[in-house]
Amino acid sequence: SSQPRTLIAGNWKMYKTEGQAVELAAGLVAGLADALPPERELLILPPFTALKTVSEKLRGRERMFVGAQNFYPSEEGAYTGEIAPSMLADAGCTHALAGHSERRHVIKESDRFIAQKVAFGLQAGLHMILCIGETLDQRTHGSMENVVKGQLRLGLAQVNKETVTPEQLTIAYEPVWAIGTGETAEPEDILSAHAVVRKTLEEHFPHCGNGIRILYGGSVKADNAAAILGLDNVNGVLVGGASLQVESFTAIATAD
Ligand code: G3P
Repeated sequence: SSQPRTLIAGNWKMYKTEGQAVELAAGLVAGLADALPPERELLILPPFTALKTVSEKLRGRERMFVGAQNFYPSEEGAYTGEIAPSMLADAGCTHALAGHSERRHVIKESDRFIAQKVAFGLQAGLHMILCIGETLDQRTHGSMENVVKGQLRLGLAQVNKETVTPEQLTIAYEPVWAIGTGETAEPEDILSAHAVVRKTLEEHFPHCGNGIRILYGGSVKADNAAAILGLDNVNGVLVGGASLQVESFTAIATAD
């Protein structure tokens, strides 16, 4: 079928030592091995230091993947403190994020650098998740639509439009004002933003824009996940805080 699988992604950010990460991963495998609905995929994004052991925990599990929160867009080289996509693949990663709001706003990454990562990651064989989203100030000034369109257009600028497929690329809409605040966007906010993303994707990628998954992120919890996952143009969720515990993330992954 052409309906893509729903992606339930957990961004652990800068939380969990290796031991804690493996314990959490083991709990998720135990809770979801038989319970993850067949039309869903699970993705865990641990910190770098736990990638390899978490991958080993998930090895052989169907529809369970490990991804990286970041990387440097080069094969190797003199880039002190950075990690290459080939090293991520070696550690068991199949996916990676680019453009997360914390990297845009705290680390000050530019749209151009984010675009380089998206294109390089795709070439390196990683499934790329490009994150976008407006700040509260931008929303208050009525510029949600322009910000979302702009971040998409700039972030996807170096992607090969002829060859990219929905199996390689996902978009995550995360309004900055809803990240880590407990302030979830209202269904109407999510619907209107995701409609803008969908339209922009269809314009940018005429042959596959309608199949590319769009995740929602921002204070997704066990008690709002089902409603959010049921919205038009929502093809999954990107979860921060609530992905750090077995119980809440399992509840989100199975929410119906
Ligand atoms: O990438 C996920 C994220 O930024 C949302 O975080 O804690 O609001 O679920 P949280």
